[in-house]
Amino acid sequence: MSLTDFPASPTELVTRLLAWYGRSGRDLPWRNCRDPYRIWLSEVMLQQTTVAAVIGYYLRFLERFPTVDGLAAAPLEDVIDLWAGLGYYSRARNLHAAAKLIINDFGGAFPADVDDLQKLPGVGRSTAGAISALAFDRQAPILDGNVRRVLCRLCALQEPPRTTSAEKQLWHWSEQITPTEYVHDYTQAIMDLGATVCVPRNPLCGDCPWSEICLAKKSGLENQLPLKQPSKKIPTRVEVTLLLCCRGRYLARRRPVEGFLGGLWEFPAMAVTTDEKQEEKLSLLCTDFGCGVEVASLGKIEHVYSHFRLKANIYRAEIDDQPRIAEGEYRWFSLEELKKIALHGAHKKVLVTLVKIGA
Ligand code: ADE
Repeated sequence: MSLTDFPASPTELVTRLLAWYGRSGRDLPWRNCRDPYRIWLSEVMLQQTTVAAVIGYYLRFLERFPTVDGLAAAPLEDVIDLWAGLGYYSRARNLHAAAKLIINDFGGAFPADVDDLQKLPGVGRSTAGAISALAFDRQAPILDGNVRRVLCRLCALQEPPRTTSAEKQLWHWSEQITPTEYVHDYTQAIMDLGATVCVPRNPLCGDCPWSEICLAKKSGLENQLPLKQPSKKIPTRVEVTLLLCCRGRYLARRRPVEGFLGGLWEFPAMAVTTDEKQEEKLSLLCTDFGCGVEVASLGKIEHVYSHFRLKANIYRAEIDDQPRIAEGEYRWFSLEELKKIALHGAHKKVLVTLVKIGA
């Protein structure tokens, strides 16, 4: 595939963008900041999460861990607990691992170079570009979700953006447009444009500094682009989930820090394979926790991970005395406490079901 160019010169695009940013850019806590620790933290938090959701977490995180040294020295569980509610918890685990790497391999100083930055767990090419550009004023391109959408529309890319050839084209455009001067402002500006104007549905083309240039707008395709990615086939797993209540408190356990959803809390659950009966698994689970099979069904939830779909059938049981539990980190939580702990996403939905029922 041959790479195409922009519908206008990069200089014209950047000039218009920076003028718009001067008028309409948002005032955010990490803006105009050059501290790579803070920028790294904000960029990791902003992966898959909106600015509105991030701000409070960002400020609390910095209060608790003002420097990378303190973060590296903390137990992982503390970092996960501080992350509770923000979701995508692998980010918290990676952040912690990366802080240790910065202390041990980089002498406590953040690298400025994109290749070095990508050695940090959780820092891919785009986040590395953002840190390099925002903290060190390096001419480093980025391609996060916002920028991908903006460029798809600006150039009317007729391909789903995650294919290999589309990625190559998009990185090429991002490299072409990233200026040598004002890289910090440019980088913030293009992310802001995607977040506030060139939004996924019903973009506000009337406010866009590129509306007269944008090829999607010219063809009336701004709501069709970027093209949808065909969804991939993934297997389904079924589990029974037990909400075990003892005097108004519910049992949850913390998953081991190593492995899938490590360090997150969950309700007792058991997988049900296709050749197994749900009732049998449920009664096994009940025996494990010393309650009879007198359980009430609360319905079901579905949760999609990248590699499988989870269907959880939810049951609630009441007991008078707390059972002895041989292994693992189990604790009893009130409903209010459950709302604050780092439950993994599927069991957050289970909790929502429980709260709706008003149990
Ligand atoms: N999304 C990702 N990084 C961002 C930033 N620095 N400002 C606003 N939105 C963002």
